Amino acid sequence: ASSQRAEEVIRRYMEVVPGVPDEDCIICMDQLSNPSGYETQPPATAGEGGQGILPDAVGKFVKCGHTLHMLCMLAMYNNGTKDGSLQCPSCKTIYGEKTGTQPKGKMEIYSIPQALPGHPDCGAIQIIYSILPGIQGPEHPNPGQPFTCRGFPRFCFLPDSDKGRKVLELLKVAWMRRLIFTVGTSSTTGEPDTVVWNGIHHKTEMMSNLSGHGFPDPNYLDNVLSELASQGVTEDCLKAP
Ligand code: APR
Repeated sequence: ASSQRAEEVIRRYMEVVPGVPDEDCIICMDQLSNPSGYETQPPATAGEGGQGILPDAVGKFVKCGHTLHMLCMLAMYNNGTKDGSLQCPSCKTIYGEKTGTQPKGKMEIYSIPQALPGHPDCGAIQIIYSILPGIQGPEHPNPGQPFTCRGFPRFCFLPDSDKGRKVLELLKVAWMRRLIFTVGTSSTTGEPDTVVWNGIHHKTEMMSNLSGHGFPDPNYLDNVLSELASQGVTEDCLKAP
């Protein structure tokens, strides 16, 4: 049943192209005219009406138009969080709502009446992330094994400006979608099976910048907006449905 659902996700966002372009598949790097090397499920039996995706099927993403073997995309989907969303491996366009693997926790928000270096005209917003150690789920690198939490609660800062408040709203969306942290190996300490940042940068130093993760940093809000966008979190997410 889950393999059928995965195929439905592929078919929702990709259409089969009849004439195969003279290009390589960005996933397997073989020519699109050759079949995909991924044989992820037994060939469809007669009783199922031949519903399975065939190894030579080439699909085109409905929005960005990039083409690749549909079975290669299916294999990539099955290797990920299987949340019903797809991301084009060429241009990173997201189809559906991408979610991550952040463990359960708490995101708290406070306002601080103090200006941050580089933002003299407003106060600050403080975000406190709390996550407790636990056991890894099936979406994590070592399911059933424990994970640790270093440096929690983590304290983060934003300027309390219009743009800072917009970033805060988008960070709340990213938190709900489990995109702020993940379980993996810390690139700072090398520790495996621990909760780590997931590519959406936060400022963890308030009044100095010794770590490179402090203020001032004139590009920070724009950088974090593009990191959020690359995870599918944009201003569109804030509009009423
Ligand atoms: N503050 C904010 N971001 C950081 C910090 C820091 N002190 N150190 C690294 N990062 C960024 C890195 O630039 C990288 O993009 O987090 C990303 C992942 O780095 P890892 O070292 O794998 O992350 P993690 O182990 O979660 O955190 C490193 O961040 O908040 C602190 O207490 C935390 O000391 C720890 C450090």
